Amino acid sequence: MADHYFTATPSSISQPSAVELHLPDVQMTLMTDRGVFSGSRVDPGTLALLRECALPPAEGDLLDLGCGYGPVACVLARRSPGATVWATDVNSRALELTGANAAALRLANVRTALPHEVPAGTVFSGIWSNPPIRVGKDALHELLSVWMERLAPGASAWLVVNRHLGSDSLAAWLVGRGWEVRRAASKSGYRVLEVRRPT
Ligand SMILES: C[S@@+](CC[C@H](N)C(=O)[O-])C[C@H]1O[C@@H](n2cnc3c(N)ncnc32)[C@H](O)[C@@H]1O
Repeated sequence: MADHYFTATPSSISQPSAVELHLPDVQMTLMTDRGVFSGSRVDPGTLALLRECALPPAEGDLLDLGCGYGPVACVLARRSPGATVWATDVNSRALELTGANAAALRLANVRTALPHEVPAGTVFSGIWSNPPIRVGKDALHELLSVWMERLAPGASAWLVVNRHLGSDSLAAWLVGRGWEVRRAASKSGYRVLEVRRPT
């Protein structure tokens, strides 16, 4: 059976390839692979997220939830060298790629970890995610519920979701759970959402 991108240990034969990530403020080459999300290019949703989100706080613990091969974590780490960027994923190949990409780019402030390895007491000064919609609605809601609770007061979570994969219903669900949701951008079929606790 073919791997999902959220398979813990992909069985597909590794075939690494380089992808170029171009943003107005950051250019980098990253390695990706089969068996991980976006194995041959930078996902357009990820690019929209990184273009449209606010600059990360200069310090503190930041979270890339579902890091894949690490484009979000590496950009956050470059933008905020004084912050610690936690990059978590259930896919071991993805975590290895993120670690290798961060090392190649000399981004010593990236920490890769399986979800249960992220220290329990860590509160995040910001969360970024191109979340795994394909895990299904219930699993996605559970995932977001668990991690969003660890957002520091006043901090924002930045999510990107394809409009055809339920961005508006996800936003409505978050509002129903008491979060304040702002549509920060709507570009090329993707919505970038800023999610905060109401003040
Ligand atoms: C849409 S991909 C985004 C990957 C990467 N951030 C990017 O932008 O290319 C979502 C990622 O979430 C991961 N994922 C799935 N379930 C997860 C979970 N329970 N905890 C953490 N990550 C998970 C998947 O393995 C996948 O790498």
